[in-house]
Amino acid sequence: VHVVDTVSWAPEGGAVRIIDQRRLPEQLVERDLRTLDDVCDAIRSLAVRGAPAIGVAGAMGLVASLLPFAHEAEARFRQRMHRHAEAVRAARPTAVNLPWAIDRMLDATARVEGTGALLDALRGEADAIRDEDRAMCERIGGHGASLIADGASVLTHCNAGALATAGIGTALAPVYVAVRNGRAVRVYADETRPLLQGSRLTAWELARAGIPVTVLADGAAASLLAAGAIDLVLVGADRIAANGDVVNKIGTYAVALAAGHHGVALYVAAPTSTLDPRTPSGADVPIEHRAPDEILGGRPGEGVAAYNPAFDVTPAALVTGYITDRGRFTDPSALFASLASPSELLR
Ligand code: MRU
Repeated sequence: VHVVDTVSWAPEGGAVRIIDQRRLPEQLVERDLRTLDDVCDAIRSLAVRGAPAIGVAGAMGLVASLLPFAHEAEARFRQRMHRHAEAVRAARPTAVNLPWAIDRMLDATARVEGTGALLDALRGEADAIRDEDRAMCERIGGHGASLIADGASVLTHCNAGALATAGIGTALAPVYVAVRNGRAVRVYADETRPLLQGSRLTAWELARAGIPVTVLADGAAASLLAAGAIDLVLVGADRIAANGDVVNKIGTYAVALAAGHHGVALYVAAPTSTLDPRTPSGADVPIEHRAPDEILGGRPGEGVAAYNPAFDVTPAALVTGYITDRGRFTDPSALFASLASPSELLR
């Protein structure tokens, strides 16, 4: 299944082409990012979003933003490269895939000399990050598909599908692979207030792929679980801390509490680029808080405040298991130990 090209090179090669996700589902429009501001604004405004996708777009965007400066001498170009890299890294704080990708980009330039060779190395690394992300999605799908029986109903939150990655997604990858293998699957998609990634994006990409999807208000998830209508909960992650705590879209914690209470398995699907061994627990992860207007929409008058965290922490104790490109894990220490094991994806 090839669903969409969430992030790609524009045909002439000088810009990153993204699907502008703010316009979905009404319009499928692409936008070309050329400058540093284009790249940072697109990430900040969620034109491109989802942890793996912002890592890929950040890496490719860094290249695009530097292309007009190929004439600069190496020392000056390196200064600029670091300035652009730090600006992209700071565009959003929570998903670890963004600093992970930027670190990889800078590492790739360590033993390179000359501006032209630096740009070549950056472009090569950005392509590798994108290609590996696509491959990791496939592997997640392969490792997770056996959890989905024929006729199963799967609940998901936010969008952790093709639109959030360079491939077939993370939480939705097992669904795509199960369907590819001939199984019937229905996905229940939380609408995901306040920015509606579930009803606008998850529903759109699944419907486009011909997979049955039902949208529900976030507040309806607990009663759906209580009714016994869900076989499996699959969510993505923006960061998984060393103790197995999962940071994901606001509302994931509530879904996990309800799933736990009703004895429904909850799996977190993520590529290894989402694992953050340096952050001890979910409490140590910077949580992005977004504009009050996303909640209030300009309606209430003066004196009304808004609480608008974009992410929450699901404690490891509420996670049945983790699905990564390396396999399936129940124990967070085994999950993190897998980072040290060889993979054909690592060079
Ligand atoms: O604010 P968003 O839309 O970028 O949040 C996205 C999520 O929370 C996803 O679940 C997460 O990034 C995993 S995407 C494979």
